[in-house]
Amino acid sequence: MNRTAIYPGSFDPLTNGHMDIIERGSHLFDRLIVAVGINTEKPGYFSVEERLEDLRVCCAKMPNVEVASFEGLLVEYARSRNSRILLRGLRAISDYDYEFRIALANRRLAAEVETVFLIAREEYSFLASSVVREVAKFGGDYAQFVPENVAKRIENRLKS
Ligand code: PNS
Repeated sequence: MNRTAIYPGSFDPLTNGHMDIIERGSHLFDRLIVAVGINTEKPGYFSVEERLEDLRVCCAKMPNVEVASFEGLLVEYARSRNSRILLRGLRAISDYDYEFRIALANRRLAAEVETVFLIAREEYSFLASSVVREVAKFGGDYAQFVPENVAKRIENRLKS
């Protein structure tokens, strides 16, 4: 059986925590599609194209990882890609409530699609894109939280 999983997210910006989930997920499934959800109501810190570019650079060495974007319902996207597995990372217990609701909603919408969770590594359990954006905004050391190419992009953004 060929197992394709989808790892959806905003990735705005991509963090080391996301990369950890992608790397671990790539070993668990035959194919992993990292999918940037396009939110037409929220402009985002980086454009979808910029986020895709950073993901492509960071995932280049993982041959079974594909980078893509989707608009609309995640489960419909999963169906369109012939995938029945949604992968999400779980950090602290505070993630649980949100993830629980979304996973149940997705199951109602598409009973054949399962959501599986990977527990974040301890060192990334606090890390979120919003933390990175805030640290960067106030002049803190954001580079320790993100891949090199993402740090460069943030640096350029702060200069402009
Ligand atoms: O990284 P995030 O912000 O937690 O990612 C959220 C994302 C993109 C996975 C989520 O917002 C999503 O799935 N959006 C698509 C719309 C949808 O299907 N929502 C779930 C049913 S309520």
